[in-house]
Amino acid sequence: MNKKYNWAILGCGKIARKFSSDLKLLSNANLYATASRSLKKAQDFANEFGFEKAYGSYEEMLADPQIDAVYVATPHSFHHEHAILCLKNKKAVLCEKAFAINKKEAEEMVACAKENNTFLMEAFWTMFQPSFVKAMEVIRSGELGKLKLVRSDFAFNGEFNPDNRLYNVALGGGSLLDIGIYPVFAALTSLGKPELLKTLVDFSSTGSEETISMIFKYKDGEMANLTSSFASLSPTQTEYWFENGYMILNPRWFTPTNITVKKNGEDEQILHSGHEKGWGYQYEAAHVMECLDAGKIQSGRMSWQMSLDLMETLDRVRIDAGIFFPDHDKNLFF
Ligand SMILES: NC(=O)c1ccc[n+]([C@@H]2O[C@H](COP(=O)([O-])OP(=O)(O)OC[C@H]3O[C@@H](n4cnc5c(N)ncnc54)[C@H](OP(=O)(O)O)[C@@H]3O)[C@@H](O)[C@H]2O)c1
Repeated sequence: MNKKYNWAILGCGKIARKFSSDLKLLSNANLYATASRSLKKAQDFANEFGFEKAYGSYEEMLADPQIDAVYVATPHSFHHEHAILCLKNKKAVLCEKAFAINKKEAEEMVACAKENNTFLMEAFWTMFQPSFVKAMEVIRSGELGKLKLVRSDFAFNGEFNPDNRLYNVALGGGSLLDIGIYPVFAALTSLGKPELLKTLVDFSSTGSEETISMIFKYKDGEMANLTSSFASLSPTQTEYWFENGYMILNPRWFTPTNITVKKNGEDEQILHSGHEKGWGYQYEAAHVMECLDAGKIQSGRMSWQMSLDLMETLDRVRIDAGIFFPDHDKNLFF
């Protein structure tokens, strides 16, 4: 029988709630500890979801030798600092997306995982959704011919609030690293890194990016047309246009969903994902434990290279669009 892993939550915010509720679905996951900057908040969170221990500081929790794996669920501007803190304490890390603010930070996180011989993976939950896995199989099968264009969006009305992390440049605010990363992920996982890219962008009054449109071009003429925004609601779907048909990851495409496949001259077909319960965060957590069972420090499915390629592409998009995070980007672009 495989080991039961003691999981800890670093940062008791919104996404940590959904993740914790899905962690309960896994028989080899023990909800062990929570850490917050406020002990009361950590205790309330622990009581609500059934964690055994609660800590009033991240550092204090990481000194607990019983912890096997930590879910880093703080804003992106802290991922580099908090993932490194975990790795130096020899705790396996599942770190929320965006993995870091830029590629340089991501490289330092990977170097730290290697130095400490400790597991590190970006929590890109879409990679593990049964529907997304099926879509990748359809692309690889070649049954629709060559993939020529990817069109992907993710937008919601974020209701402008300068205090919210979504609009706070110091916290990595802006749609790109929060939700635009998903369309970029859709392009990278199907077409790879682009040869050329162009962007158009709109900023909010705090200086954070609010809406971005990106076009990627590849060396054989393939393209990706990607958009994210906090100013409107979008269908939030990903379309793959092939020589002989199309495939749609239906709304909300990055969560458990179903797939529409249309072959030229045939009726549309719906492929069901088989997802039954939960938000869909259990798949990435289950994969982390499979990797730990196998003694791995890197996932073969959400690899370090994939996270580095994502950060590099996001850096290129930001340079083209003029989106900078002054606390993190020093000496990077100038
Ligand atoms: N995979 C997904 O579906 C998904 C969905 C939403 C968000 N995310 C990602 O998850 C991360 C967290 O997002 P969220 O929406 O959960 O964020 P959030 O609720 O605004 O904040 C998360 C937590 O970070 C901690 N934190 C530490 N320092 C902070 C600071 N200076 N300001 C604010 N919070 C601070 C706080 O925890 P304590 O007060 O307990 O210390 C806070 O509750 C982001 O990187 C985001 O991109 C992923």
